[in-house]
Amino acid sequence: MSSESNGAGLVLVTGATGLLGSHVAERLVAAGHRVRALVRPSSRTGFLEGLGVEIRRGDLTDPASCEAAVAGARWVFHAAAKVGDWGAWREFQVGCIDATRTLAEAASRVGVGRFVHFSSTSAYGHPPDQPEPIDETAPLGQNVWVHDPYTRSKVESEELLWAMSRAGRLRLTVIRPSWLFGERDRTTIPRLIQEFRWHRVSIVGPGDNPLSAVYAGEVAGAAILAARDEGSAGEAYNVTSHGPITQRQFLDMLADAIGAPRVTWHYPFWYAYYGGLSLELRDRLRRRAKPPRVTRYGAWLLGRNLSYSTEKARRKLGWSPALTYEEAIARTVRWFFEDPAARIPRDPPPLLVRLGDARRRLIAPRGPQVDAGRP
Ligand SMILES: NC(=O)c1ccc[n+]([C@@H]2O[C@H](COP(=O)([O-])OP(=O)(O)OC[C@H]3O[C@@H](n4cnc5c(N)ncnc54)[C@H](OP(=O)(O)O)[C@@H]3O)[C@@H](O)[C@H]2O)c1
Repeated sequence: MSSESNGAGLVLVTGATGLLGSHVAERLVAAGHRVRALVRPSSRTGFLEGLGVEIRRGDLTDPASCEAAVAGARWVFHAAAKVGDWGAWREFQVGCIDATRTLAEAASRVGVGRFVHFSSTSAYGHPPDQPEPIDETAPLGQNVWVHDPYTRSKVESEELLWAMSRAGRLRLTVIRPSWLFGERDRTTIPRLIQEFRWHRVSIVGPGDNPLSAVYAGEVAGAAILAARDEGSAGEAYNVTSHGPITQRQFLDMLADAIGAPRVTWHYPFWYAYYGGLSLELRDRLRRRAKPPRVTRYGAWLLGRNLSYSTEKARRKLGWSPALTYEEAIARTVRWFFEDPAARIPRDPPPLLVRLGDARRRLIAPRGPQVDAGRP
């Protein structure tokens, strides 16, 4: 691996108020870089201000905002995106594709040394189950579902960036993480802990399938290694796991960390997938702002028999996760329990959950409870 000098320089991070971007900013500051964050007018920036990050408010689809933000930057880490499996195509088009194009054009005009784009394993689409891990040579956009805006936006964002890279207009590196967790996760882990509290977590399929999940700090570390490596311009890297782990092992570790009973309930994959599909159709017809509890994407993420090779990142970048799954989950859970009310809206439990709790109290008065205040 050849390396650029590790000397400090100004780095622009987008999405720095989110899960992955905040870990990137944190690690860059720790490495001595000056970090600038381009954030929305509505973004909450307390964590970044505490790190001493320069805050620029603006709009990623506005060329002037992007040009001012990239001015003087040695590298750009682009983590801002509309993330999740719910919402109108227009939101993904603007928040992912238009934003990526505008920022990349600005970076190209000023000639930044590296543009590191956070894509996703979703950019591969939904390949069929296979025993061999999927590596970076696999085609993008396989078997994209009908109304699958997140996947489509990840594919189209990458395609436009690769076109700029091939034309010699952008020194691009693409990082493809799998499901992320860590401190400052606003979506999945807080939701999952809520579901554990409500005894509503189920295993999708038998549970012995490989799960692709990775701590956001490890992905940030790999991305910074790639930015420093001259030979990584024009390369993509999967950064998807700390090592082999199954769906059941991950859920058991999470249950143990939060002090909840381990999950024993299973649904067949097809039941979770088609159940998710019908709930999605119902909630789209009702124009619900929030996704249903089960979605096709959620079922697929947990229950498919697929994995992604991290061999290239390990070999070319010398990347190796510093934390075990237990350690990374423990950090995440500790952060959640520092202030559970701030991490997730305290919705009243649904009627069925209250009835289930009452029944559990009757039959096992001293049974294990998941307590919101647990350290
Ligand atoms: N989370 C995962 O499991 C996962 C897995 C694979 C890949 N990824 C990719 O990793 C990247 C970061 O994801 P994340 O999990 O860190 O997401 P996140 O926690 O939801 O954060 C998203 C960030 O993007 C900003 N953002 C959202 N929509 C925007 C818009 N229209 N214009 C400008 N900024 C916008 C948010 O700003 P506000 O603070 O203002 O909302 C926030 O800073 C994304 O590209 C995502 O696709 C995520």
